[in-house]
Amino acid sequence: MYRTAVHFPNVVTMRRAPYSSESTLMVDSNITNSPEWNCIHTNDSETMFPTNFAWGAATSAYQIEGGWDVDDKGPSIWDTFCHEGGRLVFEGQSGDVTCNSYELWEEDLRCIRQLGLTHYRLSLSWSRLLPEGITRHVNQKGLRYYNKVINDLLASDVLPMVTLYHFDLPQALQDQGGWKSPEIAAIFDSYACFCFESFGDRVKLWITLNEPYVCAKLGHEDGIFAPGVKEPGMAAYLVGHNMLRGHARAWHSYNVLYRAKQGGSVSLAINSDWAEPLDPASPDDTAATERYLAFTLGWFAWPLFVTGDYPEVMRSSIEVRSKELGYQEGSRLPRFSKDEPSLLGTADFFALNYYTSRRVKPGECCPGLLGLKSDRDAEGVVDPSWPVCGVSWLAVVPDGLRKLLKYIKDTFNNPAVYITENGFSQVGPVDMEDVQRCGFYHDIIQEVARALREDGVDVRGYFAWSLLDNFEWADGFSVRFGLFHVDFSRPKRPRTAYRSGREYAGIISKYRSQTMVNI
Ligand code: BGC
Repeated sequence: MYRTAVHFPNVVTMRRAPYSSESTLMVDSNITNSPEWNCIHTNDSETMFPTNFAWGAATSAYQIEGGWDVDDKGPSIWDTFCHEGGRLVFEGQSGDVTCNSYELWEEDLRCIRQLGLTHYRLSLSWSRLLPEGITRHVNQKGLRYYNKVINDLLASDVLPMVTLYHFDLPQALQDQGGWKSPEIAAIFDSYACFCFESFGDRVKLWITLNEPYVCAKLGHEDGIFAPGVKEPGMAAYLVGHNMLRGHARAWHSYNVLYRAKQGGSVSLAINSDWAEPLDPASPDDTAATERYLAFTLGWFAWPLFVTGDYPEVMRSSIEVRSKELGYQEGSRLPRFSKDEPSLLGTADFFALNYYTSRRVKPGECCPGLLGLKSDRDAEGVVDPSWPVCGVSWLAVVPDGLRKLLKYIKDTFNNPAVYITENGFSQVGPVDMEDVQRCGFYHDIIQEVARALREDGVDVRGYFAWSLLDNFEWADGFSVRFGLFHVDFSRPKRPRTAYRSGREYAGIISKYRSQTMVNI
C-alpha cells in the first residue's frame, strides 16, 4: 500500500529558521569487520536484513526528560537558553517538563516494548550526573535513574545505545568558556570515563557526541541553539575542533582502559544531507557539491576515517576566503597538535544521522562577510519534486539515504554503519492516522535494504527519530517527530501510538520473525 516513491502532496509548512541541517546481550565487539551475513530474504523479494540488525528508536535527554532542576540536577545550557533567551524558542517554550521521562520512564519502556525494538538510543544528561560538569560532585540520584533505565531495557531484551552528549552542556562549564575553551576536551574525557566506568559493564554501544556540526553552526555561528553564540566564521570551527579533540580523548580512554573488559564500540554521530550537483553536467555545481559535503559530513568524518585532519578542500576554501577578506590572524580552522591523541581511527563504526537531501550550486550569499556559508560557497536547494514534511528544511528524499550510504562506503573504506537518526515531522493539528509518515518509513526502510543488498553497504541498524513527540529545540513543541504522540497538556503526559508507530512495530515484527525462521 505504501510502496510508491512519493505518496504525499508537496506540503510546505514553515515554522522557524530552517536548519539542515539480538534481543540477547550479545554485541559484536569486532564491529569493523564484516558481519556474518545471515541474510534475510523476505517474501518481498526486495528486502533483506542481517539477522542481528538493530531495529531502534532514539531520543535525547533534554528533549524528553524534564525534571530540569529536581534531585540535584545542575542546569544545562538549554535550561539557560530557554529561560533567559526565551524569545529564540517557539512561544518561549522549554524542556522543563516536556515528556517528563525522568518520572515517567516506565511509560517510555512500555512504548519501546510495544514497538518490539531490539535497541533504544538515549542520551545522558551530563549535568544530571555531574551537576557542575566535573566528577568532584556526583549526583547519586542521577546515577540511579540511568542505572534503572539501562537495567530495565536489558531486562526487556532491548540493547541500549548511549550518547554521552546531545547538545546539553552543563551551564557550569559554559561559564568557563564551554566548547570554545581548549580545556573542555580533557573535561569531556573525564566525564566519558565516569560513564564508561558506571555503565560500561552493560552498555556496549556508545556515541560520544551527537552532531558536532549542529552544536558548532547553530549554537556558535547562527546563535539559534544554545548557547546562542553568534560569531560567524570563527567560533564554529573552534567548537568543532574541541569537540573532535574531546571525542578522540574519550575514544582512546575507552580503548586503553575499558575495551578489553567491556568489549563495546564507540563512535560519534555525524549528521549530513545527501548532496548532488544541481546540474550534473556543470563543473561549478560539481565542485560546489564537493565543498557542501566537505563542510558537513567531511568536517567530522575526514579526521576520523581518512586523514586525521580536515578535508583539504575545506581548509583551502577557508584560506582563500580569509585572504579575500584581508583576515590575517592565522588560520580560522585550527590545526591538530601532534602532541595530542590522534583522531584517525577513533570511530568503531559510522554513526549517521540522515534527514534530507539538497541539489547544490555555487553560493550566492554574503561574499563580503566572514562566515561558514561564505567559506563553503555552496548553496543547497530543494528539488521542486521533493515533498517537504512539517519543517521547511525537511525535504523527504528516501533514496538520498541510499546514495549517502554508498558514498560513505566508498569514501570511508566500507565502515560498519548505524543510522542513528532518521525521521519525518508533523506540524499543525495532530494527525494520529499519519499515513504520510507510514509511507515514509516503508520507503526509507526499502532504501536501507537496497543499500545492504545491491550496494553492499555494511548497515548494522536503523534508529527512527523519535520514540516520542518531544521538545524540538528552537521549534519547541510545534514540531512532532514521535512514533508516539504525547499529550503535553495533561500532567501524566499520556503516550499514544500514531498509526506510524503501529506500522513501524509491524515492520520490525515482520523482519525479526523472518530472522528467526532463517537462523
Ligand atoms: C537532532 C535531534 C532533533 C532532530 C530533528 C537532529 O539533528 O539530533 O535532537 O530533534 O534532528 O530536528
